[in-house]
Amino acid sequence: MALETDNLRRYVDLIDDWEAFAAACERPLPVVIWTNPLRRAVLERLNDADGLVCSAQGDATGGGLLAARLKARGYGCDDVGWYPGAYKLDGVPKPGRTLEYLLGTYHVQEEVSLIPSVVLAPRSGELILDMCAAPGGKTAQIAVAMASEGMVVANDVRIDRLRALRSNCERLGLLNVAMTAHDGTGFPLDAGPFDAILLDAPCSCEGNVRRGISTGHRRPGAFLAGRSGLQATLLGRAWKMLAPGGRLVYATCTFAPEENEMVLDYSLGDDARIEPIRIDGLTAAPGVTEWLGQALRPDCANVARFWPHLNDTGGFVVALVGKEVAA
Ligand SMILES: C[S@@+](CC[C@H](N)C(=O)[O-])C[C@H]1O[C@@H](n2cnc3c(N)ncnc32)[C@H](O)[C@@H]1O
Repeated sequence: MALETDNLRRYVDLIDDWEAFAAACERPLPVVIWTNPLRRAVLERLNDADGLVCSAQGDATGGGLLAARLKARGYGCDDVGWYPGAYKLDGVPKPGRTLEYLLGTYHVQEEVSLIPSVVLAPRSGELILDMCAAPGGKTAQIAVAMASEGMVVANDVRIDRLRALRSNCERLGLLNVAMTAHDGTGFPLDAGPFDAILLDAPCSCEGNVRRGISTGHRRPGAFLAGRSGLQATLLGRAWKMLAPGGRLVYATCTFAPEENEMVLDYSLGDDARIEPIRIDGLTAAPGVTEWLGQALRPDCANVARFWPHLNDTGGFVVALVGKEVAA
């Protein structure tokens, strides 16, 4: 993987400990699952039926019982610590094929990719747009956090990827998700205003380096420029649909400031404020306020950069943006 890390050397001045970063990029990524509280009764009935576990610690998500069942089969299952009911698995050969999975009692999702929906902090009864939603891990988190009240509009331009989203929603028993298949750059404005919007933007995926997804083929200049244009157009459209006083989370799984802070700097106006992000149990590095000689809006410092070595995860960059209410 050394070649991959070499491709990331352009970020050396942004990273507090390059050696630790490079070492983390070489390590394989643990498989992580989160427990679906909506299927807690199903899990309990399954356990009553097969009697695999005699007693498990009670908790709101059903995660204690799920973990106990996986451990009873000899698998490793360690609490991630910061996300209720989420565990790092060890030794489960096909986590997407267990009976518990098929019954919708958990979802497999990379740990760092759990963060944007937590930052969005969905509330019951809200109308929320997930603009680039497929295959739907974050949509599912949002729907679950709303306790089935309110609505998530899960949009994606790719019908084939929306099929996976629909299958995930059905398996997890989500009742408050509506699917749409628009190009987000032309999403119908009259569908809004939305209380909150997640824009998990298509990106160059550098943060997936630990999943062995190659960055070696990339031509940084051309690739980044193409992505940045699409990201800025999506963000501009999303902003128009966000209610005054609403919140928008912009996230990518890539490190390039061209796809993160520079997009925010280009697209956001005076009615936007990038807010600080703090998640107990996770470490984030500050955002970039100057890149390639260009000064960026000062609140880009509040962007949270989750470099792989900081929490032993993949990489993600997340911004929480509040929209001012006009005076
Ligand atoms: C990072 S992935 C989203 C992952 C998803 N949020 C999740 O948690 O499962 C980016 C998505 O953006 C979609 N996409 C790309 N261009 C788009 C566009 N113009 N409008 C809407 N979606 C788009 C891709 O099809 C892809 O599914």
